Amino acid sequence: MGSLSGKTRAVIASRPGGPEVLQIVERPRPVPGEGEILVRVRAAGMNRMDVLQRQGNYPLPPDATDVLGVELAGVVESLGSGANRFTRGDRVMALVTSSSHADWAVVPETTALPIPEGMSFEEAGAVPETYFTVWSNVFERAALKKGETLLVHGGTSGIGTTALMLAKAFGARVIVTAGSPEKCAACLKLGADGAIDYRKQDFVAMSKEMTDGKGPDAILDMVGGDYIARNLEAIAFDGRIAQIAFQQGCKAEVDFRLLRTKLVTLTGSSLRSQPLRTKARLTAAVEEKILPLLSKGQARPLIDSTFPLEKVADAHARMDGGHHVGKIVLVMEMEA
Ligand SMILES: NC(=O)c1ccc[n+]([C@@H]2O[C@H](COP(=O)([O-])OP(=O)(O)OC[C@H]3O[C@@H](n4cnc5c(N)ncnc54)[C@H](OP(=O)(O)O)[C@@H]3O)[C@@H](O)[C@H]2O)c1
Repeated sequence: MGSLSGKTRAVIASRPGGPEVLQIVERPRPVPGEGEILVRVRAAGMNRMDVLQRQGNYPLPPDATDVLGVELAGVVESLGSGANRFTRGDRVMALVTSSSHADWAVVPETTALPIPEGMSFEEAGAVPETYFTVWSNVFERAALKKGETLLVHGGTSGIGTTALMLAKAFGARVIVTAGSPEKCAACLKLGADGAIDYRKQDFVAMSKEMTDGKGPDAILDMVGGDYIARNLEAIAFDGRIAQIAFQQGCKAEVDFRLLRTKLVTLTGSSLRSQPLRTKARLTAAVEEKILPLLSKGQARPLIDSTFPLEKVADAHARMDGGHHVGKIVLVMEMEA
């Protein structure tokens, strides 16, 4: 499908289900509105929420379309009225509410960033969702500081690998949990100071042991369930816990006295449903604090695998299998 056809390929889930329900449909190429840019997508990261959306388990924000995908990297094709941050031909990476798993996408210019020189489209397409989420939760909400210890649950996930690398880049110690010896080894290789195989070891006891009995200063949790109570047991005095998902359930029996006696801050957030102004503020923060690191080649996203758009079902199957380490990325190949 060529760039002059006025159409775009787009990935949708025809009904809730496994990877087999995914379809690549032809849609009109979107037109940029006020403050928006049209991007010829070259690569787009996959995230756990794409799987949840495919399964019918993700409540979509009102401005989302049925086309999957919340991040992309590509080349600016045209500008909507009032858009002046970029020019045609610029390489950009961007956060979107939906519709990035397509050849063409419209992006608010305020949630787009220039791709640093030397960074590939595959890497750049894996940046926005995880880096924005990690910046917002680990560094803003949980206020991780240099010299402190961060415990990251799901250490090999797209989010986990990003949190691990960014926290190390900012001078923190990092402990991770992961579900196998191989995944623990992958995290140690990425620079983790400690790795806990949560299937065999108790992360509360282990994380205390690894911090001389003090406990981690901050925890990034995507597991929920009984981790909610156990995080409160593990966390250090004056510690901060950022809750970004509840893969093991969102109901728990918790002794909240620990919140009071240990002076704990318990926080959480959901990036996709935030208003554009919040995403724009985060984009500016990531541009100031993280883009310089990416430009220097530090803390680049870890790519597990890439799949051409037409193999999107294989990409979902890889994420369903749970053996990935880092990000899965879709790559668009179009005629000139
Ligand atoms: N709130 C937000 O704004 C926001 C934004 C982005 C992502 N998220 C959430 O963050 C999580 C990670 O996203 P992602 O795209 O990076 O996904 P991903 O790469 O598929 O990672 C999911 C991770 O969860 C771990 N996991 C799954 N079930 C677990 C369990 N029962 N106990 C312990 N660990 C478990 C897996 O590790 P093991 O294989 O080692 O078990 C895996 O590393 C997802 O839940 C996603 O919904 C939230």
